[in-house]
Amino acid sequence: MTDKISPSMMCADIGNIQGTLADFEKCGIEYLHIDIMDGHFVPNFTLGTDYCKAMKKLTSIPLDIHLMINEPENKLGWFDFGKGDIVSVHVESTAHIQKALNEIKTRGAKPFAAINPGTPINVLDEIVDDIDGVLVMAVNPGFAGQKMVPSALDKIRRVREYLDGRGRKDIEIEVDGNVSFENAVKMKASGANIFVVGTSSVFNSSFTLTEGIERFRKAIGD
Ligand code: DX5
Ligand code: ZN
Repeated sequence: MTDKISPSMMCADIGNIQGTLADFEKCGIEYLHIDIMDGHFVPNFTLGTDYCKAMKKLTSIPLDIHLMINEPENKLGWFDFGKGDIVSVHVESTAHIQKALNEIKTRGAKPFAAINPGTPINVLDEIVDDIDGVLVMAVNPGFAGQKMVPSALDKIRRVREYLDGRGRKDIEIEVDGNVSFENAVKMKASGANIFVVGTSSVFNSSFTLTEGIERFRKAIGD
């Protein structure tokens, strides 16, 4: 599976969004990770519906919308997404996960199931045919700059094994939270292929974004 980089836009310099997007386009970045938080499912507010709309106008890089909101199935219509975009919904955020995933698919985007560190992987049992990917959280979501939970690498490994065992080698594994240059190597070895990069790696004031991305690709051996 090809490695893909999805920079976390909540970590980007809000005063230089166009410059940031130009750098990402130049580097051939695969996705823009957009964290949507509602103050209920997670204790924070971040980006929102207008931000996704603005990104659609400013760049052709596909969006990777990470919904950390309760009952996403009732709110998908608020968001601008379509063919080529990823939309992740948390299995913990709704009693109607299959409905949410199905709506994402109907709109032509790639449905991903997101799972928190404390969520067992058997929640995938009934939705494995409804997803294009699993978003494994390596931190409890809500804030940038946290440390990876110790079980994260083994969790990625078990999700990969589970998906392969269900005959779904095609389902991608995205990892989010503390994807540092060092952790990314281990996350890739465990089976992840989409990397959400934030303050732990490319958004770092001691080098430019372009250098950060180059360094990241080198670190994971691309
Ligand atoms: C939460 C966010 C992050 C964060 C990634 O969903 O996607 O975990 O911004 O950046 P760092 O590297 O700070 O964890
Ligand atoms: Zn995220």
